[in-house]
Amino acid sequence: MPVRIRPDVAALPVYRAGRPPQAAPGLTPYKLSSNENPYPPLPGVMAAVQAAAGAMNRYPDAGNTAITAALAARLGVDGEQIAFGTGSVAVLYQLLQAVCGPGDEVVHAWRSFEAYPIAIRLPGAVGVGVPLTDRAEHDLEAMAAAVTERTRAVLVCTPNNPTGPVVRHEELVRFCERVPRDVMVVVDEAYVEFVRDPDAARGLDLLADFDNVVVLRTFSKAYGLAGFRVGYSVCEPGLAAAVRAVTLPFGVSSVAQSAVLASLEAEPALLERVDTLVAARTSLLAGLRGLGLDVPDSEGNFVWLPAGARTAEWAAALERAALTVRPFPPTGDDPVALAAAGLRVSVGEDEANARVLEVAARF
Ligand SMILES: Cc1ncc(COP(=O)(O)O)c(C=O)c1O
Repeated sequence: MPVRIRPDVAALPVYRAGRPPQAAPGLTPYKLSSNENPYPPLPGVMAAVQAAAGAMNRYPDAGNTAITAALAARLGVDGEQIAFGTGSVAVLYQLLQAVCGPGDEVVHAWRSFEAYPIAIRLPGAVGVGVPLTDRAEHDLEAMAAAVTERTRAVLVCTPNNPTGPVVRHEELVRFCERVPRDVMVVVDEAYVEFVRDPDAARGLDLLADFDNVVVLRTFSKAYGLAGFRVGYSVCEPGLAAAVRAVTLPFGVSSVAQSAVLASLEAEPALLERVDTLVAARTSLLAGLRGLGLDVPDSEGNFVWLPAGARTAEWAAALERAALTVRPFPPTGDDPVALAAAGLRVSVGEDEANARVLEVAARF
């Protein structure tokens, strides 16, 4: 007789990782399916990691002491407010585990980050997905209206993965004023370093006025450490302690901690690379719009092609050109399902971005 698995766990949706690059004759393949940083590690970061690997027989610092101190100084917050995890997605799991139980509700925009529905269902909570506006933005008005006495958390993704637009700061302030203070508001800023819109939400600025706000960030994107799995949250110390209480001990490895320290030291060089990616994003958006495609604004390291019913066809055309992107096929043929379908294309190497435009010209 097989082991009885919790029914809610057996029913969890499976997280689909971005596909690896696919070969095509005569073309360099590019992976544009996971919003990764296309640049290889900086030499200084590589050296720090190699040095740390020499102590792999020892457990890492379970308290993440050095990276907490360095990050607290960098962000101008207290170390007590920071909780690290193995990627910001792990920290999100921890946050929801800390505040939600069976039957509680979590309001979030949809379409948004694929991991949200899974993270919500792990503690037995129920996701309340609020459709994006026709500009692929969060509908904060509708999200505020969706908060009930069963709501324990709200997830705000800015810039929104996979569509790209940010939530504006003033709108987020008004939203937070409407949400009860015992409901957690997670502001997921995984792509914050790529944001150039001066009106965009500034999660950290909300912390002074809203004890229930949690800012979620990662070293996976701008800092290029996706393979090492380090993310963190910043919030009031009591909630941060609860997040740490549900953390797997020794989660962030010693090599990952050394990479974080070296990356914070090398921040100017890393942020220069971010500037280059932002410039590439601007050209890609302009190029796609120049082809007549109705592409929403993006403040992340990716763009959204609202392909609707043609999502699979466009993904196949890109794949024939050795470009792997992230298709979100329609889940039905009604207007809502078609509006939510499309392709997310990460901003990558110059050649990859140019090839995206070449293929898109044939759409
Ligand atoms: C919006 C958003 N949040 C969080 C994450 C998780 O990143 P990580 O777990 O690598 O820190 C991602 C990754 O794609 C993301 O797009």
